[in-house]
Amino acid sequence: MKRLFQILLVFAFTISAGIYLYQKRKEVPVEQVFPGKVWVKPIETLPDLKGVGAPTAKNCGACHTEIYAEWKLSTHANALSDIQFQSELAKPSSPKWICLNCHIPIQNQRETMIIALRGGDYFEPIEVTNPNFNPEMKEEAITCATCHVRVDSQTKESYVIGGNGTTSPPHPIKINREFLQNRCYDCHNETYTLNQSLVCAFQTGTEHDGAVSDKSCVSCHLPEVQRSFVKPSLHRPVRSSHRHGFIGGGVPKSFSLYKDQIRLGYRPGIVLKEFKIESDTIIFKIQNQNASHHVTTGDPERFYRFRLEGLDRDGKVLYHNETKIGQDWEWSPIAKKVNDNRIPSGGEFIWKVDLPKDLASVRQFRFQAVHVRLRNQTSDYMKQTALNVPNEFQEKVKNIKEFYPHSSIVIEVLFDADRKTRKDTPIEELFKRNAERRGE
Ligand code: HEC
Ligand code: HEC
Ligand code: HEC
Ligand code: HEC
Ligand code: HEC
Repeated sequence: MKRLFQILLVFAFTISAGIYLYQKRKEVPVEQVFPGKVWVKPIETLPDLKGVGAPTAKNCGACHTEIYAEWKLSTHANALSDIQFQSELAKPSSPKWICLNCHIPIQNQRETMIIALRGGDYFEPIEVTNPNFNPEMKEEAITCATCHVRVDSQTKESYVIGGNGTTSPPHPIKINREFLQNRCYDCHNETYTLNQSLVCAFQTGTEHDGAVSDKSCVSCHLPEVQRSFVKPSLHRPVRSSHRHGFIGGGVPKSFSLYKDQIRLGYRPGIVLKEFKIESDTIIFKIQNQNASHHVTTGDPERFYRFRLEGLDRDGKVLYHNETKIGQDWEWSPIAKKVNDNRIPSGGEFIWKVDLPKDLASVRQFRFQAVHVRLRNQTSDYMKQTALNVPNEFQEKVKNIKEFYPHSSIVIEVLFDADRKTRKDTPIEELFKRNAERRGE
């Protein structure tokens, strides 16, 4: 009897261990682990496009010269080589394939194909070599085809998606303006807690939908311009075209890109609508007039710093005060937003500053709005972990302050304390200065 019991026990143990091992080794499809998520899979392999060849940006650029040149300067074109992205991707806690599904989203851009997750674990993707890998296209990151090229389910041929419809291109075309307009949401409106401390927290789309605005992402971020869609030698008419610089918060990814920000459509979301100097207080009224979403939006680390300085007649700073708008997160033990004082579309932020009594020699007050993308504290940490990133990026990460703009002054207003007059520094001048600034 006792013997039988022992045998049964061993048997039961073997079975459960077997089930356990099976579950752990089982190949689980990615859709089953992340149901309904656009980013679980790359866009399917795009075959060569008739009249174009490989659907690379470089090939599109042979005819769409100006659009190509604008896109090349955009954050989208640099979403893979971005040194902040490379640093974060190199963290052992990053499930790389998920990051890449948004930052290099087409199967042609990937060395491998992911067929399933071992035991449903997102740190154990099962990968096979991708015979259609195009290394040039990989470097193009959020390339033209991300938004513009798909495969016809019947003919299995690639076609271009356009929004105009009155053109006759040398490549297959289907008109679906709505698709192009809504495409932004797939990446810019995702909030997901992956594990205890890892979240994707972009709600730009939801913020936009909650605002009273008849504009779309495209109306502001791809500003209209009258021009030919293609190079002059193709003799096509001037039409309503769109700038492809995808300018955002005015803190570009390299110092050399500052000079193109304004030309490609940058303007601050906020304006200093009103200020009042009373005997011992100054009141600032800052309004989000130009963005249909919160300022700041997207990456939770971004914020605006508002700075007030009192200067004497020689420009020496006698008084300093500052405040910020943005989000505060606690990242461990679980990711949690603890504070959020960003300005929704149309909303106002009032900053009331009580001045000390001894400011008689202040001749001028200087107000600045500084958009911060990256904190010194964070980039210092990146420097410490530079050895984790691929060789080609290490030097840049080690000297990140020299290569990577952390913040930009986007508004500067000077008040004359005696005459009570206001003078705004032109944005062009601020951006020249920004290109020389370093750090937060
Ligand atoms: C050999 C030249 C050539 C190449 C290469 C080329 N195009 Fe075009 N494309 C054209 C011409 C010409 C038009 C029509 C312009 C016109 O009539 O104003 C056009 C039109 C378009 C349109 C607008 C169609 C509409 O009616 O809305 C889009 C979008 C487009 N191309 C995207 C692309 C993309 C993306 C690529 C690369 C995958 C590409 N093109 C490659 C020549 C080219
Ligand atoms: C496939 C995903 C994807 C799609 C689709 C997409 N974006 Fe992006 N976008 C990104 C990523 C990733 C970045 C940031 C790259 C980085 O910082 O390295 C970005 C950056 C930007 C920025 C720059 C923000 C800044 O201040 O630097 C703007 C503006 C922007 N996108 C607007 C748009 C608009 C408008 C659309 C729709 C027409 C769109 N995006 C579609 C992934 C996407
Ligand atoms: C993030 C998405 C995105 C990317 C990347 C992108 N486009 Fe566009 N493109 C759009 C949108 C949105 C429109 C405007 C659609 C509309 O409202 O008519 C557009 C319009 C166009 C048009 C029609 C002419 C015009 O200016 O409106 C052409 C041609 C075009 N894109 C070519 C390109 C080429 C070439 C690239 C790469 C160098 C590229 N696009 C990259 C989203 C994108
Ligand atoms: C009414 C114009 C307008 C519309 C519509 C709009 N934006 Fe913006 N967006 C702005 C302005 C202005 C800024 C710069 C805000 C600032 O930093 O002061 C901005 C900044 C951004 C940034 C950079 C964020 C940052 O804080 O650096 C991203 C990303 C972005 N927008 C994406 C989108 C997307 C996606 C949509 C559509 C869902 C959209 N925007 C719709 C005007 C607009
Ligand atoms: C759902 C699509 C999506 C996924 C998945 C994703 N990203 Fe992004 N990422 C974006 C978009 C969109 C932006 C631009 C946000 C903005 O400008 O508001 C961005 C921006 C960034 C930036 C630049 C931040 C800044 O302030 O300039 C870094 C770094 C980054 N992502 C790293 C990662 C890493 C690491 C992963 C994987 C753990 C990842 N991303 C996964 C869509 C995605």
